[in-house]
Amino acid sequence: MARTVLIAGNWKMNKTIAEGESFADGLKSSIGDHDCEFAVFPPFFSVPFVSARLEGAGVTVGAQDLFWEKSGAFTGEISAEMIADAGGTAVLIGHSERRHEIGETNDVVSRKLKAALDAGLVPVLCVGETLEDREAGDAEPYVRIQLESAVAGLTVHQVQRMILAYEPLWAIGTGRTASPEDADTMHRFVRKFIESRFGADLAASIRILYGGSVKPENATALLGKEDIDGALIGGASLDLDTFLGIAAAAEDPS
Ligand code: 13P
Repeated sequence: MARTVLIAGNWKMNKTIAEGESFADGLKSSIGDHDCEFAVFPPFFSVPFVSARLEGAGVTVGAQDLFWEKSGAFTGEISAEMIADAGGTAVLIGHSERRHEIGETNDVVSRKLKAALDAGLVPVLCVGETLEDREAGDAEPYVRIQLESAVAGLTVHQVQRMILAYEPLWAIGTGRTASPEDADTMHRFVRKFIESRFGADLAASIRILYGGSVKPENATALLGKEDIDGALIGGASLDLDTFLGIAAAAEDPS
């Protein structure tokens, strides 16, 4: 089953509103040159501005996190409904920086995932092992536990609306990328897991993005792999030309 390549930029804690708007304008005017889909995940403040600038362009604009309650006394938090109200249609869930820098547990990730689905957002569920686990040969069991916990109790209909992202912790912001073969092996493992729980049709259609030091120079090899359906890009997504360079490289099979 054909899965449209998705090139997604996670801006993390970068860009002012004006910088986000200018990026969005440039992206909108370049969309016609590409066959892939695009998504951007700006900081919360910029979501309404960036989504307004990208209106009608077919680019997904999402937030980088949410809180699982709808409203109430949760100082500093943002709900899924607020993201939707601001024009966001997607959200990153369980990014490794939130899991490892902020201390989000699998239980927290699972609550956030359900809140995103309940609000009609497209969740991009991030999973990925630590260097210790990879070196100990435990990368797959580590990722399986993350997946099992996140999708427990979800229906096929809900999982159909999700996107998955494999981001090995040791490859994020380090310049060290998983080899295309290792990344593809993990993607196949993730797809098999989905197949075992939700069936072959869903497994064949769900998109699994790779994240971790993706740049134009390595995008062709990574995205050329059968089970890698796109990229979730941090540092290299901040500059529009580099971001579009990754899309161009992904579209170039040579
Ligand atoms: P880098 O591309 O900077 O390694 O970040 C990857 C990432 O965390 C995307 O979510």
